Amino acid sequence: MSHKRVAILISGGGSNMVSLVRSMTSDHPARPCLVLSNTAEAGGLAKAEAAGIRTAVVDHKPYGKDRAAFEAELIQPILEAGADIVCLAGFMRVLTDGFVSQFQGRMLNIHPSLLPKYTGLNTHERALAEGDIHHGCTVHEVTAVLDDGPVLGQAQVNVATDDTPESLAAKVLVEEHKLYPAVLRRYAMGDKTPIFLP
Ligand code: GAR
Repeated sequence: MSHKRVAILISGGGSNMVSLVRSMTSDHPARPCLVLSNTAEAGGLAKAEAAGIRTAVVDHKPYGKDRAAFEAELIQPILEAGADIVCLAGFMRVLTDGFVSQFQGRMLNIHPSLLPKYTGLNTHERALAEGDIHHGCTVHEVTAVLDDGPVLGQAQVNVATDDTPESLAAKVLVEEHKLYPAVLRRYAMGDKTPIFLP
């Protein structure tokens, strides 16, 4: 069996990237081929290197507001690595239609809310401000609209009365680490049936 090749894009600590990498062993239909960051400061880069995965950095800053010029460079290591699937895992740059269309049907994102609630930033603060009793995370296929696209999985947490944005983020992250590998495994086998945890 030839494995699907997965490029993982990060901007930060990369805990979701690590959970994906750890899942891609034995009978898993995919293997990591690249961890790519838009900043050299992403803590996940060292973790990927320690796991023996090829890494690359394409810094967005020199491109200013020219997203297309940034993406023209960002795509190079992905193409060089021969990625079949692209996983956004805490990648904090908005991608243009042009970039997204090149990976249509083979790019996933994890977002820390129960979409369609709370697209964009500060999702935990917003869930608390609304008095939500359930919160969670979503894995979806990436389309041209930010934090939109077919839902491939969701996991819920209960919001406690004493939760803070930080405590809620930590609870959601635990679920992210279960949900994203579960979705990727199915997706790499061509199965887009959504997974709902728990
Ligand atoms: C995760 O909570 C992920 O859902 C979120 O960033 C965090 C990254 O953590 N992503 C977004 O907010 C995307 N808009 P990690 O670097 O430890 O995986």
